[in-house]
Amino acid sequence: MRVSLISSAFNSMTQRFYVELVDGGYDVAVELHSGNDSRLCEAISIFKPDLIIAPFLTKAIPEDIWTKHVCIIVHPGIEGDRGPSSLDWAIQERWGFWGVTLLQAAREMDAGPIWATRTFPMRLAPKSSIYRNEVIEAAVECLWEVMEKFHTPGFRPRPLDYSNPEVVGRECPSMKQADRGIDWETHSTTEVLARICAGDGVPGVLDQIGGMPVFLHNACVESQLTGQPGEILAFASTGAICRATIDGAIWIGHLKPKFEKSAGIKLPAAQVAGPLLPSTVPTIEAQADGVHATDEIRCEIFDRIGFLHFEFHNGAMSTSQCRLLLEAFKRLAESSAKIIVLMGGADHWSNGIHLNQIEASEDPSSESWRNINAMDDLVQEIITTTDRLVVAALGSGAGAGGAILPLAADFVVSREGVLLNPHYKNMGWLYGSEYWTYLLPRRVGWDCAIELSENGLPLSANRAKQLRLVDEVMNRDRAAFVEEVHEFAKSKLNLVPYLTAKKRLRRQADEQKKPLAAYRQHELRQMYKNFYSPNSPYHLARITFVRKQPACWSPLSARIMESVGLINSEDETQDSRLAAE
Ligand code: COA
Repeated sequence: MRVSLISSAFNSMTQRFYVELVDGGYDVAVELHSGNDSRLCEAISIFKPDLIIAPFLTKAIPEDIWTKHVCIIVHPGIEGDRGPSSLDWAIQERWGFWGVTLLQAAREMDAGPIWATRTFPMRLAPKSSIYRNEVIEAAVECLWEVMEKFHTPGFRPRPLDYSNPEVVGRECPSMKQADRGIDWETHSTTEVLARICAGDGVPGVLDQIGGMPVFLHNACVESQLTGQPGEILAFASTGAICRATIDGAIWIGHLKPKFEKSAGIKLPAAQVAGPLLPSTVPTIEAQADGVHATDEIRCEIFDRIGFLHFEFHNGAMSTSQCRLLLEAFKRLAESSAKIIVLMGGADHWSNGIHLNQIEASEDPSSESWRNINAMDDLVQEIITTTDRLVVAALGSGAGAGGAILPLAADFVVSREGVLLNPHYKNMGWLYGSEYWTYLLPRRVGWDCAIELSENGLPLSANRAKQLRLVDEVMNRDRAAFVEEVHEFAKSKLNLVPYLTAKKRLRRQADEQKKPLAAYRQHELRQMYKNFYSPNSPYHLARITFVRKQPACWSPLSARIMESVGLINSEDETQDSRLAAE
C-alpha cells in the first residue's frame, strides 16, 4: 500500500510517521509542501498513493487532491479544537489535559470528520517538548487506528458535532504577540513561565531586556532569588538570565533579538543581552553535581554506576559545552564508577555541533573547526576509556554527529520511539567527523554505513537495532526506560573486569590495524574543505537552518542535485571506505 506524507517540513512528527510506516512495510513518499499547489498535485499524480497523511502542514491541501484521495490531517488539539495555535493556547491557558485529532481534509480547515483522537495529561513544559513527546506519541497511536479503520470495509469517520457534550474543543484564533505579552508588574511566576513555554521554540514571547526587543525562550523557575518585578537579578554561567517576578523569579535561558524586519539568532540570553546590562549583576557558577536549575551537566553515582546527564538546549553542543562535558566525563572516569552511562537530555540526546553559535561567531569557518575538534576530543576520550564500561542510553533523539557520539560507547540502548539520524549530508553535504569512519562501519559494516550516510533518512530505534546500531530497545515510557537502563547497567557490573579486558584487546588490535588518529585526520581533511572552501554548500545550509529560511534541500532534493551532477558526495564516502580499509 502506498502512503504519501504531505508536510511543511521533514520535522520530528513527519520523520516519526515516516519510520513507523516504513517499518510497517508501507511504501511511503514524503512531499514537502510550501504552497506550490501544482507541484504538489503533480507529485501526487505520479506516486498515486492509496492514502495521504499530513503530519505537519501549515498550508491547505489543494481541493483537487482532497476530493480525489482520502487525506488525513494531524491536528495537535482535542476533538473540536480548531486553528493554528492549538498547543500555544492549551499551554498558556494551562489546560489540565490536551490531545491530538486525526481528521479528514475538507473545505473548512480542521472541521472534517474525525478518524481518531487521543488525550493526555498536560505538563507545564515548552511547546516543543510537549509536541516532541506527548503529541507525537498520541499521534502515532492515532495513526495505527486510522490504518486499521482504512482497511475496515464500510468505515465512515464521525462528523464533528459541537452539540455532543464530550466535544469540548473550540475554534481559537491565531495567537498574536499581544496575547503572549508578559506584564512583569502583575503576572505571577507560573503565568510568566506558561507564556514563555507556550511560545517555545516558535515564535517566542516578545519582550525587552536592557532596552533591546527580544523573543524569550527556554525558561525555568528560580527557587530563592527575589527582587523588584522585572529586575535582572543574576546571570548563570550557562548564559541564562534571572528576572524577578511579583512572587519570585524566573530564569530565561535563550533570547532571539528582534530586528526591524527580521529576527536574529537564538543564543544564550547573557550572550545576547549581557552587554546591555549593569556589570554589577552577579554570576552564579554551574555546580559540578548539577544541582542548580540552569545547570546543563549533571553527574550522579549510584552503586558504582555513574550517570552523566547533558541537557543542552536543542541538543546543540558548542565548543565550550563539549569541553565541559569532556571534563565531566573524565571526572566520572576517575571516580568510583565502574560503568558510565551517557544519558543525554530529556528532549534531545545530541544534535552535534552548535550551528547557532557557529553562525553567531565572527569567523564561522574557524568556529566550526574548533567545535568539531572539541566533539572529536570527547569521542576520542570515550573510545579510549578502557578501564570502565560506557553505556549510551538514548531516551531522546539524536542527529548528525550527535548520533555518532553514542557509538563510541560499549553498549547503546534506546527507548522505543526514539529517532536517529546518523548522517551529516543534509547539512550542506558535510562529510562529518566524530570518528564516524571508525565507529559506524565497526557496528553496521561499510555497505550499510554508506547507505545510511547517503540516504540521509531517519531510523526508528527498532530499525537501528536490526542494523546493530543499537544493542537493546527498551520501554517506550520514560520512567520505565530509566529503570531499565539502571537494571541494564547493574547487570553488567560483575562483568566489568572481563568486558574491559576484552575491550582493551580489541582497542589494541584496532589501533594496530589503523590508528584512531588516522581516522580523525582523514575526516578532518574533508571537514576542512567543507568549512573553508568559499563555495562550500555547508555555509548556505547552516544559514538556512539557523535563520529558519525555507529549506532549500531535503534528502530527496539532494538526490536530484546529485543526479544532475551538481554534487557528488558518494565519491567522498567511497574514498573514506578505501582510506579506512
Ligand atoms: N545546532 C543548533 N541548533 C540546532 C541543532 C544544531 N546542531 N540541531 C537542532 N537545532 C535546533 C533547531 O534549530 C530547532 O530550533 P528551534 O528551537 O529554534 O525551533 C530545534 O533544535 C529543534 O530542531 P528541529 O530541526 O525542529 O527538530 P527535529 O526533531 O524536527 O529534527 C534533526 C531533528 C536532528 C534532524 C534536525 O534538528 C537537524 O538536522 N539538526 C542539525 C544537525 C546537524 O547538522 N548538526 C551539525 C553537524 S554535526
